[in-house]
Amino acid sequence: MTTAHLTCDLPLPNHRRGKVRDVYDATMNDGTPVTLLVASDRLSAFDVVMPTGIPGKGAVLTRLSKFWFDRIAAELGDAVPHHLLSVDAGDIAGLDDDQQAALRGRVMLGRRAQVVPIECVARGYLAGSGWKEYQQSQTVCGVPLPAGLKQCDRLPGPIFTPATKAATGHDENVSFDRAARAVGRPLMERLRDATLRLYALGRDHAAERGIVLADTKFEFGFPLDAQGNPGDTPILIDEVMTPDSSRFWPSETYAPGRDQDSYDKQFVRNHLEGLVDAGAWNKQPPGPVLPDAVVVATQSKYKKAFEALTGTPFVVHDGCEPA
Ligand SMILES: Nc1ncnc2c1ncn2[C@@H]1O[C@H](COP(=O)(O)OP(=O)(O)OP(=O)(O)O)[C@@H](O)[C@H]1O
Ligand SMILES: [Mg+2]
Repeated sequence: MTTAHLTCDLPLPNHRRGKVRDVYDATMNDGTPVTLLVASDRLSAFDVVMPTGIPGKGAVLTRLSKFWFDRIAAELGDAVPHHLLSVDAGDIAGLDDDQQAALRGRVMLGRRAQVVPIECVARGYLAGSGWKEYQQSQTVCGVPLPAGLKQCDRLPGPIFTPATKAATGHDENVSFDRAARAVGRPLMERLRDATLRLYALGRDHAAERGIVLADTKFEFGFPLDAQGNPGDTPILIDEVMTPDSSRFWPSETYAPGRDQDSYDKQFVRNHLEGLVDAGAWNKQPPGPVLPDAVVVATQSKYKKAFEALTGTPFVVHDGCEPA
């Protein structure tokens, strides 16, 4: 286990800190203005960022996103354009060698975009908030579903279930109509089509690798030109089909009617639920320090997800920390 990258303080403008990424406006050495996304090793659970990080997690998320962006470009091409221009820290102008070295393996340089404030979720299986809603109303985000489905059952077909991007706290599931009223119906129809195509690509690839992609979330934005004006065609931004934005289950042990083993943060969540049951934490910040055993187990889950999906070992190169 190596040290986790938790903070990031670069001499670049417009620094925003998300739960996992530090985001900046940057310029590439060739003069292209970009959004710089630095993936930290921070881990959030129940929307609270834990004080303990998972070494190597930021690099896993970055490499896995890069893997998917390449496949998306190869298979969908112009039908679903994306933001990723480079994952090479050496392409960022204005940083010295040490600053670049500290970022290797965990940066994405994306086209600057005006973010569409809707989380575009595709679900192929009935889990999480979808399962909760189904039990109450036989719907998910207002989409009616057949009776008699069990927890984690495969849905008759994948569904699009948008959520509003809340500035703080929990994102809220909304109906397609409500999302369409918020940002415009033609845009939402386009994003729904793109989301379902992307999900199908990911699900089919994952299935070949022995993994169920139960659901996943995408973000889109309008690319900004040099004057900061948004273009007309939305592009896929942010991270793509990582354990942070998706539910992955090993196919081998998948069975509906119960919770699934997963490659995501379930291990941390179970640990935290134990603390909550014992009255030691109330799901409010600050989160508790995580024990080494939980960190190591979670680290190995992220690594396994990467290796299973890409078919390549998660190796140390580009100076990135070993996982
Ligand atoms: N090309 C891009 N241009 C502008 N912003 C982007 C781009 N790609 C991703 N982003 C934004 O960068 C941020 C990434 O940070 P992070 O993943 O830590 O956010 P987060 O805590 O998940 O917050 P959120 O709930 O808003 O996603 C997101 O707010 C995302 O919308
Ligand atoms: Mg995010």
